Amino acid sequence: MMEKVQVHADNGSYDILIGNDLLNNEYLKSFEKSAIITDDVVYDLYGKRFAGTNVIVLKSGEESKNMQNLEMIYDRLMDFGLDRNSVLAAVGGGVVGDICGFAAATFKRGVRFVQYPTTLLAQVDSSVGGKVAVNLRGGKNMVGAFYQPCAVFADTSALDTLDERQYAAGMAEVVKYAYIADKGLHQTLVQQSADIGAIVKRCCEIKTDYVHQDPYDTGIRMQLNYGHTIGHAIETVAGYGTFLHGEAIAIGMVYAAHLGEQLGISPKGLASDTISLLRKYKLPVMLKQDILDQALQILLADKKADGKDIHFVLIDQIGHAVLKKLPAELIQKTVKEMKV
Ligand SMILES: NC(=O)c1ccc[n+]([C@@H]2O[C@H](COP(=O)([O-])OP(=O)(O)OC[C@H]3O[C@@H](n4cnc5c(N)ncnc54)[C@H](O)[C@@H]3O)[C@@H](O)[C@H]2O)c1
Ligand SMILES: [Zn+2]
Repeated sequence: MMEKVQVHADNGSYDILIGNDLLNNEYLKSFEKSAIITDDVVYDLYGKRFAGTNVIVLKSGEESKNMQNLEMIYDRLMDFGLDRNSVLAAVGGGVVGDICGFAAATFKRGVRFVQYPTTLLAQVDSSVGGKVAVNLRGGKNMVGAFYQPCAVFADTSALDTLDERQYAAGMAEVVKYAYIADKGLHQTLVQQSADIGAIVKRCCEIKTDYVHQDPYDTGIRMQLNYGHTIGHAIETVAGYGTFLHGEAIAIGMVYAAHLGEQLGISPKGLASDTISLLRKYKLPVMLKQDILDQALQILLADKKADGKDIHFVLIDQIGHAVLKKLPAELIQKTVKEMKV
């Protein structure tokens, strides 16, 4: 079965198609010239489905999302003779999607961009919303743009080859969508009763809805950062690579749920509900005390730097989020006292 989510952004409208048999170059053939950007792992698995198309293969991993590769990509696109009637497609996870999207946004002031997300994270999160970027040595996603694709093809059968940990990391974002925006999805996840295609579709709808309301990420879209404030601090302290992004935000959601309960904003039992749901999907829910302490110190240090409270996303009922300004000290103290 094929599902469709229509996206209407003020900088472009397009469809996200979700189903099987979507990971191939049928659509690309309608353009005079095309090229795909992928990584070596995805190329070995699915490269032959794009036979006959110009290909640029990056090394798998976050390190590839850099300026050197971007320049290499521009040079290769020149060699291929890509012009403004051509199309550039990302075939892979969020890393490939982000660098390919940025190349598409900037090469000759913009060529058409198509996404074939192949990780769960890319299908439910990074391929939706039009943010594209590369990293600088000084920080992640430091150079980027808002650039919409002309189509997204999310082939859920490609997820069969994803390793268990990567799959679980994508599920953390799915769990996040349920808590912030969809009680029904939460129920479905608890019962493990929906197929992955329906889940991906629902997540794309939720994210699309946020993006529609706040295309340039200045307001309500911040709710998508549920679990991310502490999650990012955990990623930084543990060192990038120790935890996958989804694993860190899983733990971040547990602490955010606890904090919400302690402040009387979240319903009683939210933290234990979160823990059992995350465990169901093989996600971590706890952190060593010393790493937690360091992560909380980072929150405090960041706060001191700009002298303001922290904007923190909390759940006031399952399926609904609120944004609160909280003093970093309060977050630190409350989270420290939590016993998982
Ligand atoms: N643009 C956005 O809005 C947005 C949102 C969230 C995350 N991101 C970015 O996304 C990136 C993370 O994305 P990711 O988690 O997809 O990482 P990734 O692209 O590194 O993919 C994870 C791993 O899975 C492998 N892989 C991909 N598809 C596979 C498949 N079908 N079968 C087997 N292996 C496969 C890849 O080779 C890689 O080793 C980060 O750079 C992050 O900044 C962007
Ligand atoms: Zn995230």
